[in-house]
Amino acid sequence: MRINKFIAAAGICSRRNADTLISEGRIMVNGVKVTEPGMDISGADVVLVDGKPVSAEAKKYYIALNKPDGFVTTTDDPFERPTVMQLVTDVNARLFPVGRLDYHTEGLLLLTNDGDFANHLMHPRHEVYKTYIAHVNGFPTPGQLGALRHGVKLEDGKTAPAKVTVIRQYPDGVDISISIREGKNRQVRRMFEAIGHKVTRLCRISVGNVQLGHLPRGKWRHLTPKEIEDLKKER
Ligand code: URA
Repeated sequence: MRINKFIAAAGICSRRNADTLISEGRIMVNGVKVTEPGMDISGADVVLVDGKPVSAEAKKYYIALNKPDGFVTTTDDPFERPTVMQLVTDVNARLFPVGRLDYHTEGLLLLTNDGDFANHLMHPRHEVYKTYIAHVNGFPTPGQLGALRHGVKLEDGKTAPAKVTVIRQYPDGVDISISIREGKNRQVRRMFEAIGHKVTRLCRISVGNVQLGHLPRGKWRHLTPKEIEDLKKER
């Protein structure tokens, strides 16, 4: 098995992040630093990540968290801000977030120790629909909403078609439901900036078939077997 696949299967991180660990020189096999992501290893090899031994298969966990505003979606933060990992302390596994939400974005975040699962969900070919409620200042015109639906130009490329519906009106703005399949950095906020409107609050309410529902802010639950199975099938 390839070393990056082994690391992912062992629940350390996604395969993509395993490649980063390798390039950072944090993985050793039989006492030698690994430099090749494609290196093949067998069951007899001794693999260390950051000096700690890794065993082949860990029990897999799949978790839905309601991320509050003011938490970073990383396992540790150089600026020592609160991280989502501090909200899921009572699971005995090395969990990591599947993708990310901005510091100020709230709502549904999946965490797992199944690197292949994370890899599958984040792969550009399988990216699942993620639905957000964006509170937007001002009132986008039908033309501007059409532009969001068809795709807007961002500095890193044009966005793919999105599902966009105005769901609530306020004196100063609107709540808009927006579903996208891609995961560009700050994508929803940048899409609205591109049509001249600022998002002042952003909450993710679903990822594929998994709904945030009434999960209280800062709390988590295990995904159901059906939710896990459906996400694994997403194409
Ligand atoms: N789009 C954003 O702008 N921010 C997020 O956190 C997620 C999607």
